[in-house]
Amino acid sequence: MEYKSELIINTAKELKSKLSEASDKRAVLRAPELVALYDHLKTLPAGQPRAEFGREVNALKAELEKLIREAGQPKIEMEPIDITAPFDVNVAPADRPDLLPAETGSQHPLTTELAIILDIFARMGFTAVESRELDDDYHMFTSLNFPPEHPARDDYDTFVTDEGLIAPAHTSTMQNRVLLAGKGDLEAGKGIRAVIPGRVFRNEDIDARHEHTFTQLEGVYVDRGINAGHLVATIRAWLSSYYQRDIDIKIQPFYFPFTEPSFEFAASCPFCAGTGCNVCSHTGWIELGGCGMIHPNVLKEADIDSNEFSGFAWGFGIERLVMLKYGIEDIRHFHSGNLKFLRQFA
Ligand code: FA5
Repeated sequence: MEYKSELIINTAKELKSKLSEASDKRAVLRAPELVALYDHLKTLPAGQPRAEFGREVNALKAELEKLIREAGQPKIEMEPIDITAPFDVNVAPADRPDLLPAETGSQHPLTTELAIILDIFARMGFTAVESRELDDDYHMFTSLNFPPEHPARDDYDTFVTDEGLIAPAHTSTMQNRVLLAGKGDLEAGKGIRAVIPGRVFRNEDIDARHEHTFTQLEGVYVDRGINAGHLVATIRAWLSSYYQRDIDIKIQPFYFPFTEPSFEFAASCPFCAGTGCNVCSHTGWIELGGCGMIHPNVLKEADIDSNEFSGFAWGFGIERLVMLKYGIEDIRHFHSGNLKFLRQFA
């Protein structure tokens, strides 16, 4: 603003030079020179001269405040950025420790652990087959011996598209496909040994042990003369290899329409040594999965003669296995995107 009053022009000069030197810049707003201007204002006769002087004093004060604000925010001289120029993504700026340099990006722990798990199964003779994230009623229920309207369908409350496709609630949806694809091998005397990892979805109440989206690993083994002893031995051998030690295991009868007999499978809770805590819902055990002997109706649905062949299947929650391995207390960490959590596995 152009000041008209000589007094204000001079005071403005003085105060601006004070401002450029002051370490406490706001103190300039209480400087005697500025106070003197307000004192002078009071001595002026009411009317035009007083109003004009008052406007100029206020304008000067506003100008000083603006200068003080700008002085508090040092201007950063920005180099223009050439976004087409090649650059080294591996270099994180030294003054930004909050940024993750590209070279320290790492695999998600679930990806790493799944590779370890599949590797153990590969050495045990199991082929890995990928599951799918959208399936149909036939594979979710009918092929698995869920009669229409059967109440057991309600145990798998998941998400359905407008077209009636289903976000699978378990990897058992793949059993029929694996059995059909392996039928030729069976008849050639080779047996079916498959593991099927996949993301599954449930309409769940979320807590430390339950997610709405999690990972399961299905296993299917069919051959001549297979019984529940093979089932228990296979799962034990694999768990011991994964944890590199003996884990206390509990198997108890359960119900699944697609296996008979069916079992539920639990490991002792490592957080409370079995005494009961928040993680294990005060039971002392962590449920790892379900398993059982494949129901004859499921074999029949894949055109496999249940008088000649028998087999077992299981479904484990991968997150629960990894939680047990590393002492992770809450399943929600996996999908939180929390770098503090993820960096522990880098
Ligand atoms: C099943 O899903 C069966 N399909 C398992 C099966 C396969 C049985 C083959 C027989 C033969 P269940 O609903 O109990 O069963 O889930 C299996 C495992 O998935 C559980 O033991 C648990 O480890 C994991 N799981 C289940 N719900 C959740 C959840 N909301 N969050 C994290 N993990 C879960």
